Amino acid sequence: MTTGRTTPDSAQIGPARNAAPLLALKDVRMRFGAIEALRGVSFSVGAGEVVALLGDNGAGKSTLVKIISGGLQPTAGAVLFEGAERHFSSPAEAKAAGIETVYQDLSLCTNVDVVANFFMGREITRKVLGIPILCEKEMQAETAAALEAGGTRIPSLRTNVEHLSGGQRQAIELNRFVHWGGKLVLLDEPFAALGVEQTRRGLEMVDRVRQRGIGVILITHVMAQAFAVADRIVVMRQGVVAGDVRTADTSPDEVVHMITGEIETVGQRT
Ligand SMILES: Nc1ncnc2c1ncn2[C@@H]1O[C@H](COP(=O)(O)OP(=O)(O)O)[C@@H](O)[C@H]1O
Ligand SMILES: [Mg+2]
Repeated sequence: MTTGRTTPDSAQIGPARNAAPLLALKDVRMRFGAIEALRGVSFSVGAGEVVALLGDNGAGKSTLVKIISGGLQPTAGAVLFEGAERHFSSPAEAKAAGIETVYQDLSLCTNVDVVANFFMGREITRKVLGIPILCEKEMQAETAAALEAGGTRIPSLRTNVEHLSGGQRQAIELNRFVHWGGKLVLLDEPFAALGVEQTRRGLEMVDRVRQRGIGVILITHVMAQAFAVADRIVVMRQGVVAGDVRTADTSPDEVVHMITGEIETVGQRT
């Protein structure tokens, strides 16, 4: 994996600057009938980089996330992933490439246990007299190892997911994404339904995901979350990028001004 972090001056240079970015959007537009939800959006995300996406309601954040994850096809512009232009025609196609959205309302099956969810559609089986039998011990061990690698502790992996907290479910989803080779994860208001302690653990988890070389786009309206975890902040306003700055180079006040439009576009690279 190549990131800018191998350069001697890496403290001064964001990971996406001098390596081919993991994801790059070039002048992406999205029209819904008379509404132009995205009016030429360009930005990039590096491997091992967390980008917080901020902006008022209706700014175009969810539309952008849907385009990146294959749920919508842009009217114009290009989506480049790992240096090549891609046209994902469904979330399944994006997922196969390593891009996935983890929603707060979750894609887990609540009536089966953690192991079954981890291996959903990828079960390990062995044939006994021609009949496929699930290899439960192997799957449980692999799930345990994956959760441990992600720093997540779930008391029993044989508990049905319905009995787990929102934070635990989110952790399972993120670990599952990492374990099966995910490269870019999109989180749209992932902590909105979580309490303070669960949110803190969720932010820690995002940090751990980044450390494993994964790119993260985190949509949040909570400024403190963006500043706690993001390498860069990208602000959307009325369908355009109104700001693209390193977190270390800005302040919550400045970001608020970008969101409301009290200051002109900051730091946008094309
Ligand atoms: N499927 C759709 N059909 C028509 N308009 C849409 C659709 N999805 C989003 N929009 C419009 O696009 C704009 C951006 O919406 P959205 O991406 O949801 O913003 P955000 O997530 O930043 O709140 C809004 O004006 C919204 O009403
Ligand atoms: Mg939205």
